[in-house]
Amino acid sequence: MSLLMQQLSAWEILDSRGRPTIEVEAVLSDGARASAQVPSGASTGKHEAHELRDGDRSRYGGLGTRRAAANVNGEIAAALRGQSVERCDEILIALDGTPNKSRLGANALLGVSCAVARAVSVSRREPLYQTLAIGEPVLPVPMINIISGGLHAGGNIEFQDFLIIPHGFGSMAEALEATVKIHTRCGERIRKGGYLLTGVADEGGWGPLLPSNRHALEILTASIEDAGFRPGEQVSIALDVASSHFYRDGIYTLQSEGRSLTSEEMIELLAEWSARFPVASIEDGLAEDDWPGWRLLTERLGGRVQLVGDDFFTTNPGRVQRGIDTGCANAVLVKMNQIGTLRETFDVVQLAGAHGYRCVVSARSGETEDSFLADLAIATGAGQIKIGSITRSERLAKYNRLLAIEQRDGLRWTGGAWRSGTL
Ligand code: PGA
Ligand code: ZN
Repeated sequence: MSLLMQQLSAWEILDSRGRPTIEVEAVLSDGARASAQVPSGASTGKHEAHELRDGDRSRYGGLGTRRAAANVNGEIAAALRGQSVERCDEILIALDGTPNKSRLGANALLGVSCAVARAVSVSRREPLYQTLAIGEPVLPVPMINIISGGLHAGGNIEFQDFLIIPHGFGSMAEALEATVKIHTRCGERIRKGGYLLTGVADEGGWGPLLPSNRHALEILTASIEDAGFRPGEQVSIALDVASSHFYRDGIYTLQSEGRSLTSEEMIELLAEWSARFPVASIEDGLAEDDWPGWRLLTERLGGRVQLVGDDFFTTNPGRVQRGIDTGCANAVLVKMNQIGTLRETFDVVQLAGAHGYRCVVSARSGETEDSFLADLAIATGAGQIKIGSITRSERLAKYNRLLAIEQRDGLRWTGGAWRSGTL
């Protein structure tokens, strides 16, 4: 007999920045019960699905999520009661009825989608990644934030993330051990350099007051060496430029570098830095609607650097299809709440994979202690995950889940595949 949805409830909770989000609990017809918590971004893309906020300025400056919770408790719970779990996302999408989930809220929909999926895994008594799997489950290579900038670190420098990809190790456990060493060495280097450092940024990386983006690249490369690893060979660098946030009227303004650049000049800069430093991946190197620029960037660097669309694609199948059709980017950042349901998230992963685009399953800068993303990354077979740094427990919830799965279930780790280019 097929499993049916029986009951849903939702309530307001707080994310890692102390902003409201929601938690949803699902109960199925066999009594299985599970909950899921919804993440929230800060450097959001213009084309993301709509995150429903209360707008009541007397609570949390208008950021409350009681309306989203009420939508789950009322209309959504009524529509799903007695329906087969397989139809959950399809019903949610139809019920909302808007292209960007603005009526019921993508946060409401995603919470339900994830809670129901997890309740199914509880009912089947299997790990969540197995319930979600669309192919062979594999442990992803992490892309780990070491230095933060942009909107996640008070606008110190413009680029948002300076990350490492620790691919030259035999396991996730070894890769994380190396990462902790690099993170520590990096903190020491920043302090020795005399730069103001008051703690970690939104995603757990260092958020120092550096003179320029280039300094961050120099410090990160040197920190990999300080830790005793070979840059490029064992540990590569990834950038999330998040460039939409310093782009206006055709110009990219890098105040810290003292430069205002056209798309072509920005591409030159990225080409120069990825030749000078061991940069293997660049996310949002150009702005979310700079389609002609993205095409040039991909022609110029796509053969040797992974070019990831985050704000550019917003996990949206229409935008990913347009990227494929016009030769823009070669990888997709996959964020569940940019699109609003698990089903659509998997659709995007499959669309990307069918056209040779890689995927990176990603957290948001506002996260919770929910480790759902670790299972999602494994289940998609994406081979890459981006969940922030190795400090702050909303990040560690995911890393620790990956470590548990590696050590308990013995899944294959994709570090070797990244290295050999066969990911
Ligand atoms: P966000 O940032 O969650 O604040 O959007 C993450 C990213 O840009 O990758
Ligand atoms: Zn991004």
